[in-house]
Amino acid sequence: ETGMFTLDPGFTSTASCESEITYIDGDEGILLYRGYPIEQLAEHGDFLETCYLLLYGHLPTPEEKIDFDTRVTRHTMVHEQMSKFYTGFRRDAHPMAVMVGVIGALSAFYHDSTDISDPHQRMVASLRMIAKMPTIAAMAYKYTIGQPFVHPRNELSYAANFLHMCFSVPAEPYEVNPVLARAMDRIFILHADHEQNASTSTVRLAGSSGANPFGCIAAGIACLWGPAHGGANEAALNMLHEIGTVDRVAEYVAKAKDKNDPFRLMGFGHRVYKNYDPRARIMQATCHEVLNELGVKDDPTLEVAMELEKIALSDPYFIEKKLYPNIDFYSGITLRALGFPAEMFTVLFALARTVGWIAQWKEMVEDPSQRIGRPRQLFTGAPSRDYIEMEDR
Ligand code: SDX
Repeated sequence: ETGMFTLDPGFTSTASCESEITYIDGDEGILLYRGYPIEQLAEHGDFLETCYLLLYGHLPTPEEKIDFDTRVTRHTMVHEQMSKFYTGFRRDAHPMAVMVGVIGALSAFYHDSTDISDPHQRMVASLRMIAKMPTIAAMAYKYTIGQPFVHPRNELSYAANFLHMCFSVPAEPYEVNPVLARAMDRIFILHADHEQNASTSTVRLAGSSGANPFGCIAAGIACLWGPAHGGANEAALNMLHEIGTVDRVAEYVAKAKDKNDPFRLMGFGHRVYKNYDPRARIMQATCHEVLNELGVKDDPTLEVAMELEKIALSDPYFIEKKLYPNIDFYSGITLRALGFPAEMFTVLFALARTVGWIAQWKEMVEDPSQRIGRPRQLFTGAPSRDYIEMEDR
């Protein structure tokens, strides 16, 4: 028992921790945030309502929602000195590299929200992170495309403000399309939390030492970047582009089944879901909604994705291995249609997942039985032995 992870008696690699935040039933394909089905939250609420729910454990009253939205909106600006950080990066830096650096740097700015023993400071740190992530992510995008930073506008919704900061330019007016803003908001809801995934466990482990909360989130971002985790949305779109046409899908399905071929279908399979990822269904519907709103007919990448899903779901190999599309399978097509380049996809995942990381971090820090995480190991190295002098080797 380390207070955070409960190790199996056999000290296997499986470790677990207790949480009240998110429930997943991998066999049934169920995902609940504080008991509410993801389908209902995505349908009826907005992302800031989901943030409130994950942080406080209940749906906000109308007054609580207005107060929370106002508090978040008031923190969307970043210290002007922060913009200097970006100029230290090469223009062709991957935006995730920028995010890891800039978010970590927040720990050098907001000294009044790093005393994690103070409930008020913990909540201020949480609000600041949720509020500033869209601004920081948009600045990372603008920097890599050489356009000027765009300041947040408080009259816009959270998702609309983000699209505005990414796509508006001083030279011409920019109106956020409400259908696309709603789709962006729903995509944020789908990515908000997902129990003890790799990046959330990273944030918990970093936080268990009492580290600065901004630094813990930077650690989570670094972990999410990997192609086996949050980087899969970028990898999935690149894979669909590589397949190119529907008639080449069968060739790639065969590659994915070949044990001698390291190729895996990006956006397929999951550590927990052995059924359809409920988020993938909503993402597929959102993809169609965005493409319809943009008047995109017969998107070849979407056609390849739908053919790939159809073949894979009827293939005995995928059925036996219980491999289904996950959230990353359709998100790339949708995000590209919204105007984002592939290297921004995982940045958007990190933006949305920040509330999940923060909620899980708060839950852990506020647990009185909490102790520093210290996963044990099964030692398989050399037994004790004497030193051998150089001349005797
Ligand atoms: C996310 O944990 C989370 O909750 C993560 C996440 C979140 O919201 O935080 O849901 C976000 O990371 C989603 C996953 C995104 N990653 C990808 O789409 C990358 C492609 N997927 C695979 O790399 C893989 O499915 C993993 C990494 C997601 C899971 O790997 P596992 O645990 O090895 O999968 P498994 O144990 O279920 O595999 C069973 C078998 C294995 O073959 P055998 O060893 O039994 O012979 O299926 C094979 C795997 O090799 N397999 C695949 C495959 N995924 C698993 N074969 C082909 N293509 C795949 N995508």
